[in-house]
Amino acid sequence: MPTRPYVIDEMISAKTIAARVEALAREIHDTFQGTDKLVVVGLLRGSFVFIADMVRELDLPVEVDFIEATSYGDSTESSREVRILKDLRGEIHDRDVLVVEDIVDTGYTLRHVVGLLRAKEPKRLKTVALLDKPTRREVDIKADWTGFEIPDEFVVGYGIDYAQRNRNLPYIGAVRFLAEE
Ligand code: IMP
Repeated sequence: MPTRPYVIDEMISAKTIAARVEALAREIHDTFQGTDKLVVVGLLRGSFVFIADMVRELDLPVEVDFIEATSYGDSTESSREVRILKDLRGEIHDRDVLVVEDIVDTGYTLRHVVGLLRAKEPKRLKTVALLDKPTRREVDIKADWTGFEIPDEFVVGYGIDYAQRNRNLPYIGAVRFLAEE
């Protein structure tokens, strides 16, 4: 799908992200210390870099699973209807679960996924989001842990895409669209 020309302005450096992920992992570790197993559920695809860094900071018995929910497709607007494209492989009944999300924007995705997972009756279910855009929220939900609150800007990098591009940037950057000729 063609996109308008754009440039990317660095918003959060790789170093700042790494320090924050380490701090979040310490808090998450303290919460789940003593668990027999923590099922870390990443929301595909945007959380794949965050979850990879997060689990390597967690000195706990961890199992990794993924859910894929619909998000923006190739546009920058949220579709309020959330669909599950790929469900969990493992069981979470009576398990400790950590949901790892890239961005909480309107909040529909996280609310939908948390609802589905709660119905499976985990022992404890907590959520961590790398980024939060509180001014965009349309439903009342907040992750238990948030990496960074950011303004209403479309961002890419560290796993997050615009039309499937820029996921491999090591930092988070804001997309600035250029006027077309
Ligand atoms: P929500 O359901 O509106 O909260 O949207 C959550 C999902 O939308 C995130 O998991 C992202 O995949 C996507 N998203 C939200 N904001 C951005 C952005 O700035 N850049 C890229 N994807 C975004």
